[in-house]
Amino acid sequence: MAAPVADRPGNGGQIVYATQPVSPSTDVRLSVLFEERIPYFSERVAHAMDELLPQAGEQPERLHKAMRYAVFNGGKRIRPLLVYATGECLGVDVSRLDTLAAAIEFIHTFSLVHDDLPAMDDDDLRRGLPTVHKRFDEATAILAADALQPLAFAVISGMGEVATHTRANLVKLIADACGSMGMTGGQAIDLAAEGKELRGAELECMYALKTGALIRASILSVCLLADGTSPEYFDALDEFSRDIGIAFQIKDDILDVEGLTEVIGKTAGSDERLRKATYPALFGIDASHKRCAELLADGLNHLAPLGKDADPLRWLADYMVSRGS
Ligand code: IPE
Ligand code: IPE
Ligand code: MG
Ligand code: MG
Ligand code: MG
Repeated sequence: MAAPVADRPGNGGQIVYATQPVSPSTDVRLSVLFEERIPYFSERVAHAMDELLPQAGEQPERLHKAMRYAVFNGGKRIRPLLVYATGECLGVDVSRLDTLAAAIEFIHTFSLVHDDLPAMDDDDLRRGLPTVHKRFDEATAILAADALQPLAFAVISGMGEVATHTRANLVKLIADACGSMGMTGGQAIDLAAEGKELRGAELECMYALKTGALIRASILSVCLLADGTSPEYFDALDEFSRDIGIAFQIKDDILDVEGLTEVIGKTAGSDERLRKATYPALFGIDASHKRCAELLADGLNHLAPLGKDADPLRWLADYMVSRGS
């Protein structure tokens, strides 16, 4: 089956369909500009995920088909790109990053499948296609997400070329990022806040958890993998990741208000329908744009000590708040 691929950074915000997974191509990998190498990185992570996921024909077939549908239904692959961009910044060979990037995308995918369920945001459309519970059924969607999460930890634990203590630290970092003090906790706060007024700091705390935690882990996990990342660089990347994580969610909320369903690939206006506590709903669209720009500027300032090596992260941060989908 030809699987739809990504609305990818650099394609002008259009949803593009292509056949994947595919093997990494050779023509773009040597380009100097990170943004020109994005198709190469996207293909690398798609290839890694294909290798790591059970085949669709493997029993139980419906579950494995749903897992693959969830993963290969497109997606910007922002978190894998953060892994690769941080790897470039810290001089980690790209071949050491594929499994980590794939594992983090599995976690992100699991969070989206659950986020779309009727008990949560009750969305029918994701990445321009029916959500997993619509395309399959609710129980299969729950189970597919349930299976993607441990798969992520299994593949990190199995990174044979990485020292055992580093693998353990990676598992801990990513588990914390997606647990009750991270993404899952943030999702719980998001649901409890429907129809409520939150103060700015409370809202940003929710964003830092539900979205920021995994974005932060995408960057800090590479610091762990790099071995010997200086405390100065670690702290700079940590601060940067916190700012862009919150900015990314504010931009997501802005797109829910300003975007078109056919461009963003999910039903526009969904947040208003659910009376979600979002930045635009509580503070207005202008304040949302302003806060996004402020967070981007703060985030970029934190990257100063890393010099030109952080240019891929600078480009990606800018893309994360200027994207059209
Ligand atoms: C959507 O994330 C959910 C949020 C955390 C804001 P993305 O915008 O990265 O979704 P995909 O993976 O590209 O579909
Ligand atoms: C989702 O936030 C955050 C997750 C952890 C999945 P949203 O509910 O706003 O994400 P979308 O708009 O459905 O992608
Ligand atoms: Mg949600
Ligand atoms: Mg949602
Ligand atoms: Mg949203």
